[in-house]
Amino acid sequence: MTQRPNIAGDPFAGRAPTSHERTSGAPWDASYRDGPAPWDVGPQPAIVRVASRGGFTGDVLDAGCGSGENTLHLASLGLPVVGFDVADTALAIARRNAEERGLAAEFVSADAFDLATLGRTFATVLDCGLYHTFDEDERPRYVASLTNVAQHGGTLYVLCFADGPNAGPHPIREEDLRASFTPRAGWNVTSIERERVLTRYHDEHGAPAWLATIVRA
Ligand SMILES: C[S@@+](CC[C@H](N)C(=O)[O-])C[C@H]1O[C@@H](n2cnc3c(N)ncnc32)[C@H](O)[C@@H]1O
Repeated sequence: MTQRPNIAGDPFAGRAPTSHERTSGAPWDASYRDGPAPWDVGPQPAIVRVASRGGFTGDVLDAGCGSGENTLHLASLGLPVVGFDVADTALAIARRNAEERGLAAEFVSADAFDLATLGRTFATVLDCGLYHTFDEDERPRYVASLTNVAQHGGTLYVLCFADGPNAGPHPIREEDLRASFTPRAGWNVTSIERERVLTRYHDEHGAPAWLATIVRA
């Protein structure tokens, strides 16, 4: 990632703003400051279903965990889980919720483009709504960063907005996922299924989504 000097009061804390932050004109943290973020709806049903069929095993990493609802759902199942995010306000909400619910989960500040700094690897990685925020220039850097924290043979789940009618912001095409997660980049796509993502601004059926199951080679 492009390092910038960490100046006091810098809303990006020394990292380069992402494409989403440049477009929106605000740091991710701002989404969490005045009430629930638009995607803060509790654990996503698609993730709850994957968990209920035993899809999460071993040490779990929740990438771009936000306020930690998916992380805490996995913790409630007894899984050892770490959530990371760049939004300190989101991390504070996640830690408070963990404490209030009596759940053990770790929440750390980390940049998705620099995951080697975590110094740990995980058997299962969840990306719920992070990959789709990155543009075509950012995706290869994110995927390369993920290879540093996913154990060989481990599983990555990507739940992202899909293209098509009533698409959410940042719609992703199936071929975008296949272009990102190639054997050359260290990944094998097992399946890409149609799913839904719930938000606070869609009806109860949410927005069209992809659930990609990807294995680290
Ligand atoms: C759409 S939200 C999804 C949050 C959460 N996964 C959920 O499902 O509620 C995307 C999250 O990714 C985080 N994020 C964006 N860019 C990031 C980066 N470079 N490194 C770490 N987290 C990032 C944002 O702060 C935000 O919390």
